[in-house]
Amino acid sequence: MNDLIQEMEIYAAENDIPIMQKEGIEFFKQLIQKYKIKSILEIGTAIGYSAIQLASLDSEIQIVSIERDEERYQRAVENVAKSQCGDQIKLVLADALECEIEGQFDCIFIDAAKAQYIRFFEKYKKNLNNDGLIVSDNLSFHGYVEHPELQMSRNLRQLVGKIKKYIDFLENNDEFETEFVKLGDGIAISRKKH
Ligand SMILES: C[S@@+](CC[C@H](N)C(=O)[O-])C[C@H]1O[C@@H](n2cnc3c(N)ncnc32)[C@H](O)[C@@H]1O
Repeated sequence: MNDLIQEMEIYAAENDIPIMQKEGIEFFKQLIQKYKIKSILEIGTAIGYSAIQLASLDSEIQIVSIERDEERYQRAVENVAKSQCGDQIKLVLADALECEIEGQFDCIFIDAAKAQYIRFFEKYKKNLNNDGLIVSDNLSFHGYVEHPELQMSRNLRQLVGKIKKYIDFLENNDEFETEFVKLGDGIAISRKKH
């Protein structure tokens, strides 16, 4: 399994595919264990790196993961087949904003197009179990969110603006409370208010 993980890390680096940073994934694994999470809906599979890492924690964990890019999806299918957790991961080739996923999950992991985070959150919160967690990655966006003084292209500035709007949306949400963790590329953990 370690060989497969390493192979995926090299492939992602060589092909410019953003996968979760090591520090972030380690923190996420601890969270899964702490909250005894057994079902995860992942938005943004890429090549299956995080899905395989999380599924391999416990054979009872089931993951549904959505990816809209066909080439990445195919890679993920191959990687999941090579892993020992093929029967735990269901891969869906679709745009997460256009497909419907049935069922309830202990965790929804948002790791797709950063400009659409509010839409992902609003669309999929209905699939979250009452005590579940919505985990969002990349809220620091390589440090640009905290450091607006850094040189940025117009596109990057717009993207950073969207991430700030999402942070604001989480901070001022009536239904969910959110903890922000400065690990990896910045992670938010949201729970329903009771
Ligand atoms: C940061 S990568 C996911 C990394 C993966 N979770 C990991 O850590 O191994 C984000 C992925 O989301 C996909 N994506 C972006 N917007 C999407 C959408 N609306 N629906 C489905 N997938 C999307 C991109 O194609 C990209 O592969």
